[in-house]
Amino acid sequence: MSLFAARRLVKRFGGLTATDHVSIEVEAEEVHALIGPNGAGKSTLVNLISGLLQPDEGTVELDGVDLTPLPSYQRVRKGLSRCFQVTSIFPGATVRDNLLLAAQAHSGSSFRFMAPRNAEAALQDRAHELAVRVGLDKEYDRIAGALPHGAQRKLDVALALAADPKLLLLDEPMAGMGPEDSARMVELIQLLRTDMAILLIEHDMNAVFQLADRISVLVYGRVLTSGTAADIKGNAEVQSVYLGTEVHA
Ligand SMILES: Nc1ncnc2c1ncn2[C@@H]1O[C@H](COP(=O)(O)OP(=O)(O)OP(=O)(O)O)[C@@H](O)[C@H]1O
Ligand SMILES: [Mg+2]
Repeated sequence: MSLFAARRLVKRFGGLTATDHVSIEVEAEEVHALIGPNGAGKSTLVNLISGLLQPDEGTVELDGVDLTPLPSYQRVRKGLSRCFQVTSIFPGATVRDNLLLAAQAHSGSSFRFMAPRNAEAALQDRAHELAVRVGLDKEYDRIAGALPHGAQRKLDVALALAADPKLLLLDEPMAGMGPEDSARMVELIQLLRTDMAILLIEHDMNAVFQLADRISVLVYGRVLTSGTAADIKGNAEVQSVYLGTEVHA
C-alpha cells in the first residue's frame, strides 16, 4: 500500500469540473511531480489534498488514515505539511522567532512533562535545527521579510518541516527564482527526500526531471499519464500538450 493516496477526487466549480476523478499515489521516500498546463487543476488538487477545499467526491489517505473529513490543521498533525509560497511567514519577525513559533505550534504534548526552562531550551534547539536543515543558520537573526526571495522560500520550507511531515506538499517552490536559487532548492529537496515523501508541483521542468521518481501530467482536470522522466519526455501526447516547448528541456 502506498504511503499517500488521493482517490478519484472530483471538484466542481459551477459547471466546470476542475478535477475529474483524479487519483495520485506517493510512495515512502518518493518524489512524485505533478505537471500540467495553466488551468489544468493543479492548485485545486493541492487544495483538496491539504484540506483547504472539500472534494465533491473521492478520498485522501495518508499512512492508512482517511484524512478526507479533517480540516487542514488536523491533516498537518497526521503528517501532511504544505508550503504556502511564503505567505505563512511573519515578515516582521526574525528567522529565529518564525521557527520558534512553528516549533512551538507543533510541539504538541512533547514538552508537557519538562521543566519550563528545559522546554524552552528544547524549543530553541528545535528551531535552530530547522534553520540548519534548510541552510538558514547564518540568517538566523535577520528579519524574515528583509531576506532575499530564495531565502524566504527556504524559511517557508522550514516552517512546513516543523510539523515533521510524512508527506511534504510543495506548490511551485522554484516560482520567481533565478537559476542559482533554483539549484539550491533542488539540493534542499534532494536532502529532504531521504526523510519524507514529496509531492512536487512545479513548472521548472529541469527541476522536475532532476528530482522526480515519477511524474504525473494533469490536463483539463484529468491525469493524462504517469511515468518516469524518460517516459514523460518520450510521450507524444505530453509533447503536444506542451506544444513541444518545455518538455524538451
Ligand atoms: N474557486 C474557484 N472558483 C471557480 N473556478 C475555479 C476556482 N479555482 C479554480 N477554478 C478553475 O478551475 C480550473 C483549474 O484551476 P487551477 O487553479 O486548479 O489550475 P492550475 O493547474 O493550478 O493552473 P496554474 O498553472 O495557472 O496555476 C481553472 O479553469 C480555474 O479557472
Ligand atoms: Mg496553480
